[in-house]
Amino acid sequence: MTREEIRQFLEFYQDLGVKTIYRRGSSLSAPEPLPELVADLNSLLPPMAPAPAPRPTPVRAIPPAAPIMKTTVPKLLPLAPEGDSMEAIRQDIGDCKRCRLCEARNKIVFGSGNEGARLVFVGEGPGADEDASGLPFVGRAGQLLTAMIEGTASKEGITILRPDVYIANVVKCRPPENRAPMPDEMEICGQFLFRQLLAIKPKAICALGSTAAKALLGTKDGVTKLRGNWHKWQDIPVIVTYHPSYLLRPYNQNAKRESWEDLKKVLHFVYD
Ligand code: URA
Repeated sequence: MTREEIRQFLEFYQDLGVKTIYRRGSSLSAPEPLPELVADLNSLLPPMAPAPAPRPTPVRAIPPAAPIMKTTVPKLLPLAPEGDSMEAIRQDIGDCKRCRLCEARNKIVFGSGNEGARLVFVGEGPGADEDASGLPFVGRAGQLLTAMIEGTASKEGITILRPDVYIANVVKCRPPENRAPMPDEMEICGQFLFRQLLAIKPKAICALGSTAAKALLGTKDGVTKLRGNWHKWQDIPVIVTYHPSYLLRPYNQNAKRESWEDLKKVLHFVYD
């Protein structure tokens, strides 16, 4: 790759909000952020030959003809490798050791459901049940999510079941003590989520909770502020709603009602 191609590549990722790029095969118990993608590009590139000394400008009697402008179409590399597939993403994740979350995990939770789904749900990260089974949303919060998807769909006359949608998380390994994923863990693992979304190309995404909203929308706003309106990840419409674990707390009954409204909205948008 030329220096210019690398610059365009890094700028493209920066525009997408990706601030850290892992090096394939690197072990990241101490993650290796690229300091400021474009600003610090020099640290990534081989040293350049010294610039030639400026030549004196020749004095011309007749101005030169206007130069023919060469239009360079920037060759932007897509976020995902060409011909990406869920299988390729799974293989790239491999026995991932790119961040500290690998240390205590049992199973990587890649995601599950219909890989051609029109609707994708994005959660935060695996809990204990998911870590043990390797499948997302199978614990109490998962059972509530399944009931909400299938119950709302059936009430609204939409014939879908949980296996018809796809469910994934921002991070694929369980954070210890169910703590929220850290920013570097989200950035490293989020790249795989983004590749999954690009491979599935759903009609809409439902972000479950503020971690998913933050990863997809790059916002610090909470769910209360974000829910009720459409947002976008790339060109894909995004609805933000409460995380099912939050709804399991008995004092959040109002949020439960709002979640049903959010689900109705996204289900009708996708399946009507
Ligand atoms: N919570 C999540 O965010 N994801 C899961 O897979 C399970 C619980």
